[in-house]
Amino acid sequence: QCAGIRGRGQVWGTPREVKGIHNRITVNGQYPGPTLEVRDGDTLAIKVMNSARYNVTIHWHGIRQIGTPWADGPEYVTQCPIQPGATYTYKFTIENQDGTLWWHAHSRWLRATVFGALIIYPKLGTSYPFAQPQLEIPILLGEWWNRDPIDVLRQATFTGAAPNISDAYTINGQPGDLYRCSSKDTVNFFVNSGDTVLLRIINAALNQQLFFTVANHRLTVVGADAAYTKPFSTRTLMLGPGQTTDVLFTADQTPGRYYVAARAYASAPNAPFDNTTATAVLEYKSAPCISNKGFLSKPNLPRLPAYNDSATATAFTTHFRSPSNVKVPTQIDENLFFTVGFGFFNCNPGPQCQGPNNTRFAASMNNVSFCTPKNDLLTPSILSGYTERLHHRLPSCSTNKFGSKVQIVLQDTAIFSVEDHPMHLHGYSFYVVGQGFGNFNPRRDTAKFNFIDPPKRNTIDVPVGGWAVIRFVADNPGVWLMHCHIDAHLTWGLAMAFAVENGAGELQSINPPPEDLPPC
Ligand code: C2O
Repeated sequence: QCAGIRGRGQVWGTPREVKGIHNRITVNGQYPGPTLEVRDGDTLAIKVMNSARYNVTIHWHGIRQIGTPWADGPEYVTQCPIQPGATYTYKFTIENQDGTLWWHAHSRWLRATVFGALIIYPKLGTSYPFAQPQLEIPILLGEWWNRDPIDVLRQATFTGAAPNISDAYTINGQPGDLYRCSSKDTVNFFVNSGDTVLLRIINAALNQQLFFTVANHRLTVVGADAAYTKPFSTRTLMLGPGQTTDVLFTADQTPGRYYVAARAYASAPNAPFDNTTATAVLEYKSAPCISNKGFLSKPNLPRLPAYNDSATATAFTTHFRSPSNVKVPTQIDENLFFTVGFGFFNCNPGPQCQGPNNTRFAASMNNVSFCTPKNDLLTPSILSGYTERLHHRLPSCSTNKFGSKVQIVLQDTAIFSVEDHPMHLHGYSFYVVGQGFGNFNPRRDTAKFNFIDPPKRNTIDVPVGGWAVIRFVADNPGVWLMHCHIDAHLTWGLAMAFAVENGAGELQSINPPPEDLPPC
């Protein structure tokens, strides 16, 4: 008797056009954009035709791009943008990675609506290190503005104030029925009792860390950022923008309807944010109707931590371990220390100098704010054979010798206000050997580093007012951006670039740029 009512929301997997939304840039008319399903070892060629009115680039978040830095995507770093009417084909191979990644625009704030899942299945003939689930569901957490995100960006750039908060968080494109605008369009996921379900969760929000849960179900974490982890069980996840987490659960509850929910984790005490819960509904196919009028039962509400519950957030993020012993560099060749945070910088008096004593609010790494260059950094560095010029053009740049073992200490600073920062490195996965609150103390903290089974990630949430230490081998030549994946912070300058070169100061063994690389 529920027929006709059941499933009246949107069912995940039904491709849908975004109708009635003006002034939004989408990919193939979909929000979120199409899911790419590929296998480890595949070579991808993705032709991007820009029929929008803004410049655009696409980044394949977490793909290492070995030998293909031209395909990485951040605008003015590895390429100039694809202009309206122009085309560029991203070509790259997936090498020894499987799990959940995603793709998104890497040009101004277009990724608000230009993003999608990138799912990498194990190589043909191999399988997951856990029992094959009956059902797999990508979950894309997003952030929606009723205004054009480029206008929100302008406001954030020119006033230096916190950007206007978004109008809703979304799950697979819909805010869900706890937002008044959207009760009819909540996304539904249908399961059979007893099914094992794999959720591939992606935090694609522009500016917000999010807690995530499924009401009544215990979740087992099995992967993050396209690397498997030692399984551990949890009720709640926390994902910083850019991060992905794979979880398994069994549909072992009384057949019914349960909320799948996401809500803000806001570590900065006074920054404004939206505290509404975004929802989707997990529905057992055998769930009974509550009344003979055919109304479906109300879903069970989940319990989520308070917005400022840093203890729960950090307990979760520090729980990850690699599944088996890994090869972490124990000796290091280059030891880098970077502060990440906010501050006031000198500027010429003017409307942007709203800080004390004619200063301007900005974000920085080691007190240098990244300014987007006018031309891309990669082409001239490769063509001239020397990266030295890079340093003149870009003070926030670090050069690493090919093959060197690098350690980076990321220290959240408290000059202005502390907040946790999801720091993302392009071109690499790294091991997180330690993290903690307060100031990093080399003597005390180095002794506790995990060299056995540290997690492998591409985005690390540096704890609020704390630190994280990452290690990797600089074996992928190119120019790679490292930045806070909160777009407001990236806009304010919380970014830098690494140039990985050979001992002679050259970027080695990179093929020449593809012919259709967009001109600057
Ligand atoms: Cu997912 Cu530089 O970004």
